[in-house]
Amino acid sequence: KEKKDLEGKKVLITAGPTVEAIDPVRFITNHSSGKMGYALAEAASKRGASVTLVSGPTKIMPPSNINFVPIKSTLDMYDAVMKHFPQQDVIIKSAAVADYRPQYSAEKKIKKQEGDLTLTLVRNPDILFELGQIKEGKILVGFAAETDHVLEYAKEKILKKNLDFIVANDVTQEGAGFGTDTNIVYLIDKTENITKIDKSSKTEIAHHILNKVKELL
Ligand code: C5P
Repeated sequence: KEKKDLEGKKVLITAGPTVEAIDPVRFITNHSSGKMGYALAEAASKRGASVTLVSGPTKIMPPSNINFVPIKSTLDMYDAVMKHFPQQDVIIKSAAVADYRPQYSAEKKIKKQEGDLTLTLVRNPDILFELGQIKEGKILVGFAAETDHVLEYAKEKILKKNLDFIVANDVTQEGAGFGTDTNIVYLIDKTENITKIDKSSKTEIAHHILNKVKELL
């Protein structure tokens, strides 16, 4: 039986992809399923935390007894996260946030025309980076999905984004990354202390992440 070791703690989790509109019928997104973030929300809630889940569109039912905040775009996620941030003790950013969005989202469906079409993409805010600038006493956890140089890039992100720790995974490995029910991750903290978690269910990985959060609280 799980202990309620996060009782009284407020935990904000982001999950899923973000969706960037091109016009009313088209969009740019990514392969994030939301499974890792939803597993974290469920596990934190079972351990007694009061959970806010800010999520892009997924096929998963949100856990009951949490504050569910559905969003679509990165700018929506930014607004929702900034609104809820001040009340939180812990923020875990497992969402796969789009780094770019179309400069304009056309009000009407773009008609095909002669020749090619060029879309200009503009940078989205890095939500996690901004939280790192204002985190004060809060625990801030990031994710790093990489295809190469996993540990090196993850360590850079801890410093750049001012995180307490990062969950890094190599999305090219069998049984890891987007859409799978399992993952293989490294938990890396500020002191470069690395813990490898061998292939496990996303629920088990969620509990490992929350154990680490609990240690730091
Ligand atoms: O820099 P990179 O996108 O690899 O970092 C991943 C981490 O940063 C994840 O925790 C993700 O949720 C967060 N992120 C963000 N806003 C962005 C891009 C990434 O919060 N625009």
